[in-house]
Amino acid sequence: MTATFVGANVLSACTTERGKKRLVFFFTGTGNSLYAAKQFSDNPLSIPQVMKSDNLVFDADEIGLVYPIYGHQPPGIVRDFLEKATLNAPYKFAVATFGARKCNTVEILDHIASKAGIKFDYITTIHMVDNFLVGFDMNEEIKLEKHEDEQLAQAVADVNEQKHWFQPFTEEEKKLHDERYGNDYDRRMTMNSNGAFKIDRDACVGCGFCTRVCPHKNYKFTSQGITTDGNCEMCFSCIQNCPQKAIKLNMHEVNPNARYRNPHITINEIVRANMQ
Ligand SMILES: Cc1cc2nc3c(=O)[nH]c(=O)nc-3n(C[C@H](O)[C@H](O)[C@H](O)COP(=O)(O)O)c2cc1C
Repeated sequence: MTATFVGANVLSACTTERGKKRLVFFFTGTGNSLYAAKQFSDNPLSIPQVMKSDNLVFDADEIGLVYPIYGHQPPGIVRDFLEKATLNAPYKFAVATFGARKCNTVEILDHIASKAGIKFDYITTIHMVDNFLVGFDMNEEIKLEKHEDEQLAQAVADVNEQKHWFQPFTEEEKKLHDERYGNDYDRRMTMNSNGAFKIDRDACVGCGFCTRVCPHKNYKFTSQGITTDGNCEMCFSCIQNCPQKAIKLNMHEVNPNARYRNPHITINEIVRANMQ
């Protein structure tokens, strides 16, 4: 794949082996979705960065979206992107990364995107490390073999062929989601970072990574040390990327000493993706 430039947005698209101009947009908290996005493009575009632009009209032969699911749903910033962006491409695909239970996430994305006037041609999911600290011990999660590279290779081959396909889900999976979250797929989950996280000031050395990996700029240096406040994406990037493990969830964590970042992704890549 080679890098070229597209339209007035001056964004790097890649040219696929089949000569197609492909733009791939991603959101990530701990790197799984960036690692996945990189399989589809040499230069995937970060949604938190792209959203700063006034011009959200994109033209390419193929446009892709890669993101993690939260409660089987796309993160709020991905919903915002779908609502605000105009994606002009004859072939559009989406890849949702998840850790344990995807439920009917394919249907939920299709619903949200269709309402925004976007019809995906291909939607699949990739089973990766589950970074949900409430439910999982990161030290145990990383030991599980989920065959993510095989799944990704299949998805890349499908997209290269411009396959039209939605990964199927069962009635049981849909029921599980609807019983837990309801069937109003337009309803967003919201959280404030002030209530959600606690900062151990003795452990904090003021490195400031939390201020740089938060896609909402919720962390600030103050005379009392680092503080956090604001609409939270729930990506856990602040907690998971704190080198001192000084940020904890304000609720039960399976292992508060275990933290995760995708081994193929550096903290600086997360900073470049999310920094505001
Ligand atoms: C707040 C939150 C909610 C999550 N909800 C789900 C879920 O409903 N089902 C699931 O399988 N994984 C869930 N996950 C796990 C992530 O979707 C998964 O680890 C993803 O690959 C992380 O991608 P990232 O590294 O790009 O942030 C959740 C993670 C977080 C932080």
